[in-house]
Amino acid sequence: MLKAIYPGSFDPVTNGHLDVIKRSAKIVDELIVGVLNNNAKSPLFSVEERVNMLKEVTKDINNVRIVPFAGLLIEFAKEQGAALVIRGLRAITDFEYELQMSQTNHKLDPSIETMFLTTSIEYSYLSSTTVKEIAVFGGDVSQFVPEIVAVQLEQKMKLKGECDKHE
Ligand code: PNS
Repeated sequence: MLKAIYPGSFDPVTNGHLDVIKRSAKIVDELIVGVLNNNAKSPLFSVEERVNMLKEVTKDINNVRIVPFAGLLIEFAKEQGAALVIRGLRAITDFEYELQMSQTNHKLDPSIETMFLTTSIEYSYLSSTTVKEIAVFGGDVSQFVPEIVAVQLEQKMKLKGECDKHE
């Protein structure tokens, strides 16, 4: 049985992430989407919110589980009994960071391999960071993220706006 981890911050999940999840789930028997719980990265959405959005948008894919994790990815992969890590590669700018991460992980545990899926061309420009930036300025993110994520982003921005007014 081939079990893989697709790790990330998913702050929030985009259509690009969802594309990699769907394609990976067709290749492996079980796909665990590992959601990084790391407050040092000051995420916009809490880990619970990110996990819940991912659960909602993947609810029709039978072999996908959403699991939060903290600490080393390699330890999380071992805990979950997964020998494969999947990452999406967009433009060449992703390559250096991904290479460093996969080689470091391989040094930490050579039994765990990293496999890359190149993102579908229509998502090659897309990132959670740009989606958040569009949302901050009140732009329409509906073509970049699943509908429930667009709604949650809008709510989060309203809430942030209210808080900023009272600061
Ligand atoms: O979506 P992201 O932010 O690009 O995902 C990065 C992630 C979560 C895959 C990476 O930061 C990670 O694996 N963090 C866990 C800590 C770790 O294992 N670091 C050593 C690898 S260099």
